[in-house]
Amino acid sequence: IMMPAAIRQMTPHGGVLVDRVLRGVVREAALERAQSLPKVYLSPMAVSDLEMIAVGAFSPLTGFMDKLTYQTVLDDMRLPNGLAWTVPVTLAVTSAEAAALKEGQEIALIERTAEGADHIMGILELAEKFGYAKEEEAAAVYRTTETAHPGVARLFAQGDVLLAGSIFLLNRPSVLEFPELRHDPAQARRLFAANGWRRIVAFQTRNPIHRAHEYIQKVALEIVDGLFLHPLVGETKSDDIPADVRIESYQAILRDYYPPERVLLGVYPAAMRYAGPREAIFHAIARQNYGCTHFIVGRDHAGVGRYYGTYDAHYIFDEFLPHELAITPLFFEHAFFCTQCGTIVSPKICPHDKKYHIVLSGSQVRQMLEAGQQLPPEFTRPEVSKVLVEGMARKREEEIRKEEAKKASAAPA
Ligand code: ADX
Repeated sequence: IMMPAAIRQMTPHGGVLVDRVLRGVVREAALERAQSLPKVYLSPMAVSDLEMIAVGAFSPLTGFMDKLTYQTVLDDMRLPNGLAWTVPVTLAVTSAEAAALKEGQEIALIERTAEGADHIMGILELAEKFGYAKEEEAAAVYRTTETAHPGVARLFAQGDVLLAGSIFLLNRPSVLEFPELRHDPAQARRLFAANGWRRIVAFQTRNPIHRAHEYIQKVALEIVDGLFLHPLVGETKSDDIPADVRIESYQAILRDYYPPERVLLGVYPAAMRYAGPREAIFHAIARQNYGCTHFIVGRDHAGVGRYYGTYDAHYIFDEFLPHELAITPLFFEHAFFCTQCGTIVSPKICPHDKKYHIVLSGSQVRQMLEAGQQLPPEFTRPEVSKVLVEGMARKREEEIRKEEAKKASAAPA
């Protein structure tokens, strides 16, 4: 009998899958200790980053970056040991908050729940606190200092001091959406192995799956064993489609148009930075940590507005030598439906004039969905349109109900 060779999996970035999740009695002792530690409240992005570091998605990081690491990442797109890394992962607090904290101390990292309660998430071993130049970070990471850029706006609004040090995770975030889709890197690796997949392509997205997405995913799937559909569900800008509506739309399209034995849907709990090219490298490294061997980079990856060139997120990979990134990027040009070709194509394979191409911008899509209109079937599968239109209508009703409840409670009896 021929036995299949054992499946060797993708090495995590830096060689070891980081695990800073405390369990059992060690966790209980840490929870006890955390009660009396100084507290730092986490932003939504810090909540995500803390969890991502702890589960190894950001391997080899074991905590929030110190000054040397931060500066090397900005200047050189590498960690001090030379490993590729493009985006700062930092913990910002106000100067007043920082003044009360001492280097060498342990700090309790707290999420404030929607109800206003304290939810202990982790412990930071505060190694260093340092000031930083927001304009410089903006220019390096986002390639702009305009506050119309959502990443720059967040950066400029955050505190002026960064806290550095290793972390431990004691609790997951207070609200865990899509629990059945939250595969940590170690778990994703187990699932890939159980499926017998050696070559796995990851697809990052913050949008519904339109037909162009489906096309590039399936072209990629032609040359690998499995597709890891990995939508980001951490914080996104307010006009992106909410994650729960998107998840429903992914489930709808998977049910009808994808071979189930070749696709794994999992959520990526990180926050969106909108750092375009630099975030493309960051996204690729994280998916390597989940065990993927290939990563899709299409048109204007992680972009926003007109801040990046259509293919800047492809070109940035040339700033790294092939051995610096173990995961293989798969580059795709802008895909769209061509009425002459009668199918989805890209400029690489279609000879026809632009007037035959059906292209909708993100804001056009949003406007149509907000008006309750189905998207053109050449752009989005009708099954997906339906879920999106209904989902957006449900969101609007929820908003109205919330407003009314607010008004009712504010009105004098
Ligand atoms: S992103 O912020 O997560 O990059 P989006 O969900 O729109 O945004 O894109 C997911 C992935 O699909 C990215 O790699 C992006 O470059 C790619 N992509 C999106 N739309 C197209 C398209 N029409 N043609 C080619 N690639 C695309």
